[in-house]
Amino acid sequence: MNTRKVGIVGAGAVGASAAFALALAGTCREIVLYDIVPGVALGKAIDIEQSTSHSPKGTIVTAADQPSDMKDCDVVVVTAGVPRKSDMTRADLLNINAKIIADVTGNIVKYSPNAIIICVSNPLDVMTYVMHKLTGWGRNRIIGMAGALDGARMAYQIQKKVGYGAGQVKAIVIGDHGENMIPYPQISTVGGVPLTQLLDDEAMQEIVQKTKTGGAEIVGHLKTSAYYAPGRSIAVMVEAILNDSKAVISSSVLLDGEYGYKDVTLGVPVVLGANGVEEVIVLELDDETKAKLDTSVKSIQENIDILKEEGFFNK
Ligand code: NAI
Ligand code: 2OP
Repeated sequence: MNTRKVGIVGAGAVGASAAFALALAGTCREIVLYDIVPGVALGKAIDIEQSTSHSPKGTIVTAADQPSDMKDCDVVVVTAGVPRKSDMTRADLLNINAKIIADVTGNIVKYSPNAIIICVSNPLDVMTYVMHKLTGWGRNRIIGMAGALDGARMAYQIQKKVGYGAGQVKAIVIGDHGENMIPYPQISTVGGVPLTQLLDDEAMQEIVQKTKTGGAEIVGHLKTSAYYAPGRSIAVMVEAILNDSKAVISSSVLLDGEYGYKDVTLGVPVVLGANGVEEVIVLELDDETKAKLDTSVKSIQENIDILKEEGFFNK
C-alpha cells in the first residue's frame, strides 16, 4: 500500500463526500475520481484538492477522463448508480444498476487488478454480490459499505437518547442495508457501559426503529439521499485498509457458511486491514435475532434471484 492510491467511481454526492473526507484527513497520497458525466469528476477533483492546503497532509486529487485513466489503485470505491424513477419496477432498477456495476467492475479488474473494492451502490448487498460473481476474486477483496453508516446512525440515536457519550458510543448493525437491517442494542455500548444497563426495552426499541428509518428521514428532508455520513463511513473503511488497522466494522461480505449461510452477501462484523476482510466475526445470536437475520438474508436472496432468473450471471 505504498502508493496509497484510491479510485472513486461515481463523483456524485457520496463519491465526492468520500473524497473530501479522505482529503481532510490526509489519508491518501492520491485520489482519482471518475464519473460518466463529463466535467463532474474534474470540477470536484480541483475543488477538493484546493481544500487540502488546510489538511494535515497533502493529497493529489485528479480526474480520470476514461476508465483506463484510473489505474493501479490500492482501493477502489464504487458509488456509480441511478436512483429508482417512478416508471421503474424493482427488477428494472436492479438490472440497470447491475449493468452499471458490471461495466465498472470490468474496468477495475482490467486497470486495478490488485485493488480492494468497496461497493457503495444500492441495493448494496446485491451489488456487492454482483461484484463477487463477476470478478471471482477472493472474498476478502470485495466489501460492501453499510454497517459503518447504519452503525453511525444508531450511535447518533443512542447519544440523543441517553444525552451523553458523544464519540464514545459503539453501536452495531447487522443484516441487510434495507428495511430488514438489525440494529443490535444488546451488544452496543456507551463508553464501555452496555446499553442494556442504561436504557429500558422501550427506549431501545425506539432507537432500533429510528435507526432503520434513518436514511429515509434524511430523504424526507432533502428529497435526495444522505452523503456526508456515507462519505465519512467510506473514508473510515479506506483508512482501516490503507493503515492496516484491523478495525472491526460491520460490512456486507460474502458468507461461506458463517451464521449458517453460504453464497450470499450480508452485513456482519468483520476485521478490516491491508488484505481487506481479514476475519469474519461470528456473533452468538439469540433465537429472535437469528430469525430476524433469516428474514434479512431472504430479502437479499430474493433480489439476487431476480438477477439469476433474468440470466444476468450467464451473459
Ligand atoms: P449521485 O447521483 O449523486 O451520484 C452517482 C454518480 O454516479 C453520478 O454522478 C453519475 O453520473 C455516476 N455514474 C452513473 N453511472 C456511472 C458509470 N457507469 N460510471 C461512472 N459514473 C457513473 O448519487 P449518490 O447520492 O452519490 O449515491 C450513489 C450511490 O450510493 C447510490 O446507488 C445510492 O443509493 C448509494 N448509497 C449507498 C449508501 C450505503 O450505505 N451503501 C449510502 C448512500 C448512498
Ligand atoms: C442511505 O442509507 C440511500 O443507502 C442510502 O442513506
